[in-house]
Amino acid sequence: MSQGIQAIWEHSIHQREVFWREAAGDIQWFKEFTVVCDQSQAPSTYWFTDGELNTCFNALDRHVEEGRGAQTAIIYDSPVTNQKQHISYEQLRDQVAHFAGGLAARGLTKGDRAVIYMPMIPEAVVATMACARLGVVHSIVFGGFAASELAVRIDDSSAKVVIAASCGIEPGRQVAYKPLLDEAIKLADHKPEFCVIHQRPELMADMVEGRDLDWLSVASHDTPHPCVPVKATDPLYVLYTSGTTGQPKGIVRDNGGHAVALKWSMKHIYNVEPGDVFWAASDIGWVVGHSYILYGPLLHGCTTVLFEGKPVGTPDPGTYWRVISEHGVKSFFTAPTAIRAIRQQDPTGEYLKKYDTSCLQALFLAGERCDPDTLRWSEEQLNRPVIDHWWQTETGWPIAANCMGIELLPVKAGSPTRPVPGWDIVVLDEEGREVPAGTIGAICAKLPLPPSVFATVWNAPERYIKSYFSRYPGYYETGDAGLIDEDGYIFVMSRTDDVINVAGHRLSTGAMEEVLAEHPDVAECAVVGVADELKGQLPVGFVVLSSGVDKAHEDISKECVQMVRDRIGPVAAFKHVAVVARLPKTRSGKILRATIQKIADGEEFKMPATIEDPGVLDDIGIALKSLGFGQ
Ligand code: COA
Ligand code: AMP
Repeated sequence: MSQGIQAIWEHSIHQREVFWREAAGDIQWFKEFTVVCDQSQAPSTYWFTDGELNTCFNALDRHVEEGRGAQTAIIYDSPVTNQKQHISYEQLRDQVAHFAGGLAARGLTKGDRAVIYMPMIPEAVVATMACARLGVVHSIVFGGFAASELAVRIDDSSAKVVIAASCGIEPGRQVAYKPLLDEAIKLADHKPEFCVIHQRPELMADMVEGRDLDWLSVASHDTPHPCVPVKATDPLYVLYTSGTTGQPKGIVRDNGGHAVALKWSMKHIYNVEPGDVFWAASDIGWVVGHSYILYGPLLHGCTTVLFEGKPVGTPDPGTYWRVISEHGVKSFFTAPTAIRAIRQQDPTGEYLKKYDTSCLQALFLAGERCDPDTLRWSEEQLNRPVIDHWWQTETGWPIAANCMGIELLPVKAGSPTRPVPGWDIVVLDEEGREVPAGTIGAICAKLPLPPSVFATVWNAPERYIKSYFSRYPGYYETGDAGLIDEDGYIFVMSRTDDVINVAGHRLSTGAMEEVLAEHPDVAECAVVGVADELKGQLPVGFVVLSSGVDKAHEDISKECVQMVRDRIGPVAAFKHVAVVARLPKTRSGKILRATIQKIADGEEFKMPATIEDPGVLDDIGIALKSLGFGQ
């Protein structure tokens, strides 16, 4: 009889090196490792340190060599451009090898950085894999960010090249990427040596002579480039994510641990075999896209779906079910917010009934807390397992999940089940003591951390320690609060920092406050995340004006909204600002953001003992009502 999850989990914790050495046997190494887990630089954990491999080789070439060349690697399905395309492993390997050759011919070499700013098109996969092939560190930037966010990433990564598309396509509008890129390069202190631009026929871009190269001129390079061996600990990519300030954190992913953990997860968590069709309806700009649109399925020899569209409106709430049925998707992964959007428009599942989705084995949800209502609706509609699982950009793969490929445990709504093998999770109180079952506290992971988890922050090793390891020595502080119940199930309830989750996107209220504070009429401000039925949370801003400002409040609010859109991007979904006379504060001057949030969410709250003037809360309540929030 095969082992159950408890036995496998215990093995992964108590014989850590044996467990991961065995998992690493599924990866092809150019140089075998002898060291499995190196903790000499704790709290960083380095895996397979003296091994060498190439992630692109394991994702593409090895499958061609092993006879999967004719199998479809990518199904591109784009309802926004009415295109569908199947690309085989052999075709993808060749396109990647030639594009890598084109980049290498222009001086790109192992260790250089490339920023990729592209929508969900096959060229984005080619560009990413070509970087991995060369050992070039890629940094993908989500299309919904503004030019200044792109500039921050170009600067921080000191990218030698930016690979971009001329445009992205959102329902009802084209997003011209190229002017945003030009503006970003103008804003950045570091100037990339050159750009490669994929011209989409929907909206062609003006090229800057001497700097911008057409995609085709690079992709048609006549010599394919072989895979460059890199150390297991060499960075594969840097992915920026929101922290508590406006400066995003560059999460560094290694090659070896990442490949091993993702390959293991495909079978043991998602229960798919090589050759199966796997679909993560996310975006390559997010970690879910990196891990489960690109690397995970390809490392495992699956067919991955690259979907350029939305859950609703492209053209209707049946799109996801159409894709599942048409392409034979076995495991499907999306965010609860996408399911809520579908449910809002199709509460009785009429669109679902139109399609034969019998190929679907399970629905996986992540990116935000899955509310029990959404879970139950999905279960009822689909009549198959719906699996909530919890993870972060920092980890690159799930921390907690119902591991379908090992043993399916009973589902408890609101919980992503139990820690995945490799993860030793505890809940700590303010003093760093483990709390009894059922008690809320800071969710932390005992060191050492499993493979794939970041071992540093790009350009900011001290921030790595300060943000994640200083408060609870010996543990990784996830930034999430919650509890573990008597059955070992984890419940992730909220963040412990200023990060909010909007439509499955992680955003920093601190970054939005930094933008508002720059408005010439704003003296003080606060941004909080307020509960929203569709997106989970929405940011709401409160601004106090400088004395003597007599401009219409409505105009100031509009300007604030525009500033956040221009500086952070439309993805911030920042649309609500109230001008207030004062902000609620403690006597020591700390803004009571948590109390504002509770008022907005209609939750009960205890009047903070240290509040300076309780009357201010009434004003906040009135302001929230005027914006349509609160009770
Ligand atoms: N490029 C440019 N702009 C983008 C973009 C992109 N890749 N993605 C989103 N935006 C823009 C949208 O057009 C929108 O702009 P608007 O203010 O002009 O309308 C804004 O950013 C907010 O987008 P979004 O949060 O996606 O809201 P929406 O109202 O357009 O759609 C949902 C709502 C629920 C359908 C959508 O958020 C969704 O599909 N969510 C799933 C998220 C997901 O998969 N997350 C991955 C984590 S696993
Ligand atoms: P990101 O790094 O963008 O993937 O966001 C990670 C954060 O999203 C986590 O720290 C959680 O706050 C939240 N999150 C992701 N998945 C879940 C989940 N299944 N349940 C609860 N919160 C989640």
